[in-house]
Amino acid sequence: MTTTSVAKRRAIAAPTKAAAAPATPDIQTKGVSRREFLYYIWGASMALLLAESTGTIIWFSLPRFRAGEFGGVFTIDPATLPQKGTVPVVKPDARFWLSNTNEGLLALSVVCTHLGCLYKWVQANNRFECPCHGSKFLADGMKIKGLGPAPRNLDRFVITVTTPGGTTKTNTNGGPVKVEGATALTIDTGKKIKGWPEGSAPQV
Ligand code: FES
Repeated sequence: MTTTSVAKRRAIAAPTKAAAAPATPDIQTKGVSRREFLYYIWGASMALLLAESTGTIIWFSLPRFRAGEFGGVFTIDPATLPQKGTVPVVKPDARFWLSNTNEGLLALSVVCTHLGCLYKWVQANNRFECPCHGSKFLADGMKIKGLGPAPRNLDRFVITVTTPGGTTKTNTNGGPVKVEGATALTIDTGKKIKGWPEGSAPQV
């Protein structure tokens, strides 16, 4: 057989082999079709996008306050506290009064619980008085019955006291806290305890 005839035979045989080959199936990757694979990629992308969007919304919606900024935590030097039973001290930047009563220290919001005016300490009467509508409060923030329209006692902030032993005590209900011998003190203006209504059982 000549070389030419062999080539002719191969040329004739080639299409026959190709025609006999089975049709190529859809691309499979370990049992997952291309369509399914693309669907999973799309789903993962959507989930990632949703997670990013949710995270961004939470990040911008949550209030963030720095220490020393109203809404955040204020550090107070215990040496600067008013003596027990003496005139309360106001911290204007922090928007609270520090009132060291016989029962303990209180951090009282500077805002009147009626319509939000800023009340003052009136030494002559030994009480807080609101200039707007005349509500009166004792040094511990209790509304004086019948004196003014404020519906409840003054609001309080949460205080954390560090003792000489290093343990801390927090008045989570805003009640008076003993500060004798305290080595550190913080007031959390992000944690306001609403004054309870005049005449109801006291918060302890
Ligand atoms: S705002 Fe204080 S009594 Fe009205």
